[in-house]
Amino acid sequence: MSFTPPGQLAVENVRSLSPYVPGKPIEELQRELGLSDIIKLASNENPFGPGPAALEAMRRALAETWLYPDGSGHILKQKLAVKLGVQPNQITLGNGSNDALVLLAEAFLKPGLEAVYSQYGFAVYPIAIQATGATAVAVPALGADSPMHLGHDLAAMARAINARTRVVFIANPNNPTGTWAAAGELEAFIAAVPPHVIVALDEAYYEYTVGMKLQNGVEWIARFPNLVVFRTFSKAYGLAGVRVGYAVSDPTVADMLNRVRQAFNVSSVGLAGAAAALDDTTHVAAAVNVAIAERARVSARLTALGTKVVPSAGNFLLLHAGANARGKFEALLRLGIIVRPVGNYQLPEHLRVTLGTVEQNDRFLRAWEAC
Ligand SMILES: Cc1ncc(COP(=O)(O)O)c(C=O)c1O
Repeated sequence: MSFTPPGQLAVENVRSLSPYVPGKPIEELQRELGLSDIIKLASNENPFGPGPAALEAMRRALAETWLYPDGSGHILKQKLAVKLGVQPNQITLGNGSNDALVLLAEAFLKPGLEAVYSQYGFAVYPIAIQATGATAVAVPALGADSPMHLGHDLAAMARAINARTRVVFIANPNNPTGTWAAAGELEAFIAAVPPHVIVALDEAYYEYTVGMKLQNGVEWIARFPNLVVFRTFSKAYGLAGVRVGYAVSDPTVADMLNRVRQAFNVSSVGLAGAAAALDDTTHVAAAVNVAIAERARVSARLTALGTKVVPSAGNFLLLHAGANARGKFEALLRLGIIVRPVGNYQLPEHLRVTLGTVEQNDRFLRAWEAC
């Protein structure tokens, strides 16, 4: 009898999945190269981390970690509802916004249905779609003739919608490209999406778009009840490690997401940290201001060095590193700098770098020049 590894008993759509490739952890590089002074500019985290209020709230929450968290996330949802101008029953909390995206796929997709996303759209979308057995439909991105090259081609995405389509995923701005859709263009797209399709608008980097003409999708939910907006505490709020994100939607959609949500999907430490971080607007604004200023400064410097930089509305830049992008990535690692290769996005000549502190970015720029 031939031996079939038990993993092969998994369903076909899971066996054929390409797993998510995370950024290299600092500890891993320490083990590999024995370096001590390592900076990670690979996962679009906020280098300033949580503010003192969030840290204190999380420390206090540690003492209560023998208890299950509040599965309804009552306090955090109340605060979010006030901040966003929605009702608490429109909010679904997730173990990171990744969790909320997966809940949407679980609740709205199944084999025989389709979900549309853009060619260079965030890697979680095809994974979440395919895990349900639905068909992931990737739409080619905008070409080099567009000022938003590599960004979402909304007109082509609209054309990809058919009777089987149930969800369209749009990240605005998008990761890993940093590209964005202008408010008017996005509005026209959403208005034209037929009512049998949910528009999943992922605004993980929304806080970094201050001063740009990007729409706050939450304001559109009353007008477009098939719109679901995703936000996270992992980026501007500096809480990636405790995993808190959320979806804002019509209450009937939130009701469905809550049916598939694990009862205690957000930890008590995460709930406490997120609630406190939400109140500490000064800390968040300071981190965002640095990222926005550094986005302009680092882009300009890289451009002056002859590197092509994709326009970005996020806290990161996608750089054209050329045919030796892998070599450049490895040379940076040897200098203790972790950036993100994006070969898994079929962008083998690009690297993505997260904007760190001014000092970290200066170190990156010196290394980039040297590599
Ligand atoms: C566009 C986008 N959406 C969602 C996420 C998921 O973030 P989290 O699960 O930490 O909220 C990320 C993380 O990199 C992202 O880039």
